[in-house]
Amino acid sequence: MSAGVNVSGSIRRRLLVQLVGSAALLAALLFIAVLAFVRNVAEESHDRILLASATSILDSVSVQSGELTADIPYAALSMLGNVSDDRVFYRITHPGGTLTGYDDLPVGGVPVQPGQPVFESARYKGEGIRAVTISRRLSVQGVPVPVQVSVAQTRLGQATLLEQLVWSALYIGAGFFVLASALAFWSAQSSIKPLRSLTEAVSRRGPKDLRPVTRPVPAEMSPLVSSLNSFISRLQASLARSEDFIAEAAHRVRTPLATVRTQAETTLMRVEKEKNRASLREMIRAIDESSRAAGQLLDHAMVSFRTDSLELKEVNLTELARDLTERLQPVAELKDIALHFEGGSPVCIQGDGILLQNAVRNILDNAIKYSGQDSEVWVRVAGSGAQQKIEVEDQAGGFGGEDTEALTRRFVRGANAKDTIGSGLGLTIAREVAEAHGGSLIIKNSQTGAGACVTLCFPSH
Ligand SMILES: Nc1ncnc2c1ncn2[C@@H]1O[C@H](COP(=O)(O)OP(=O)(O)OP(=O)(O)O)[C@@H](O)[C@H]1O
Ligand SMILES: [Mg+2]
Repeated sequence: MSAGVNVSGSIRRRLLVQLVGSAALLAALLFIAVLAFVRNVAEESHDRILLASATSILDSVSVQSGELTADIPYAALSMLGNVSDDRVFYRITHPGGTLTGYDDLPVGGVPVQPGQPVFESARYKGEGIRAVTISRRLSVQGVPVPVQVSVAQTRLGQATLLEQLVWSALYIGAGFFVLASALAFWSAQSSIKPLRSLTEAVSRRGPKDLRPVTRPVPAEMSPLVSSLNSFISRLQASLARSEDFIAEAAHRVRTPLATVRTQAETTLMRVEKEKNRASLREMIRAIDESSRAAGQLLDHAMVSFRTDSLELKEVNLTELARDLTERLQPVAELKDIALHFEGGSPVCIQGDGILLQNAVRNILDNAIKYSGQDSEVWVRVAGSGAQQKIEVEDQAGGFGGEDTEALTRRFVRGANAKDTIGSGLGLTIAREVAEAHGGSLIIKNSQTGAGACVTLCFPSH
């Protein structure tokens, strides 16, 4: 269908690439955002437990007998153990040094203001730790002494938790991507649907269907459809002009040709010299050829015009064929051809009587024209439930090995037509009329093999 079209890219593919690309980008952003959020939440809740533990330890520091003592409650450290199996370190310091705990803990090095916990990340004993340092003032012998507590925990448990969270975020991102890609595919498919259905509607049309496109289309496609419609109407106008021109030209040629022919015949009667008579006979033949061609061109233009705007009426094929057979009887008699008509009850179709008459006349004209002297021609009309047909059979030798399909093309004549006057338009007219009525023209040799059998078939409506 796209033969000869310069194709560059595909809207569907472009849409799909853009939508799937956007989905991938959004999925990556979602992954990063979810990860940052959960990491933040996990860290914050861990920090809060560290702070609670440190507060509980700081509360256990008291002054007894003028000395600072610490009685660390079990719960202060076990609450951290509940979160993970990570190791916990602590240190209680005062201006005099370390009261208890890990002296070398690398956090809480600088004094911390009471009520302002400081969180830190550091490395201790070869492992990463997270720590909090808080302080409070205690009165020792009437002197306020700042006491500072640092609690730290290794981060192995947190790292495992984070790894789990990374996987969860990854699954969420991948799920989002798959869903978004499916939606992208559906959306790309549905966006080009109107384009595809317009293409189908236009390509389903018959070769002569030049009606404008009236089906509803999306706003974006309306410039395309209006250009197409304007192109169709220009084509229609141009076709009508050329048909008119052919008809007018044929008409103008025919009349003077008839005059020239009469003159030539009169002269032929007067001339005695055989050489001159032969020239005159040749001239008359050429005039007949031209006159026939002009007549057939005129008929063909009329057929094209009428099939474009077909007006259907009930046509009795039996009557039409019988009438034509009677009218062509004198022509057949000139060659001693017996013209038979076989048709019983009326066979009717919805059609254009003038066109149908033209088609049958051309087929019958061929049968008489190509038949030899003393032969027979049968015209048969028959109608069954599914189809109605008019068949013309002769004994003119048939089509031999001729390509019968080619004979229905304009101006194509067979090998047997050399000595006969004709223009190669008769079967073209018959086929176009049959097709305009939804029927077909069947050209084959007769069953006896003596001649041709040409049938016009019409479906019952
Ligand atoms: N009944 C027939 N028997 C044998 N050959 C036929 C018959 N009908 C048509 N043909 C062949 O088919 C060709 C095409 O026929 P068609 O009627 O289209 O053109 P034509 O008869 O040559 O010219 P015209 O336009 O004047 O009818 C003919 O030239 C002839 O060779
Ligand atoms: Mg013919």
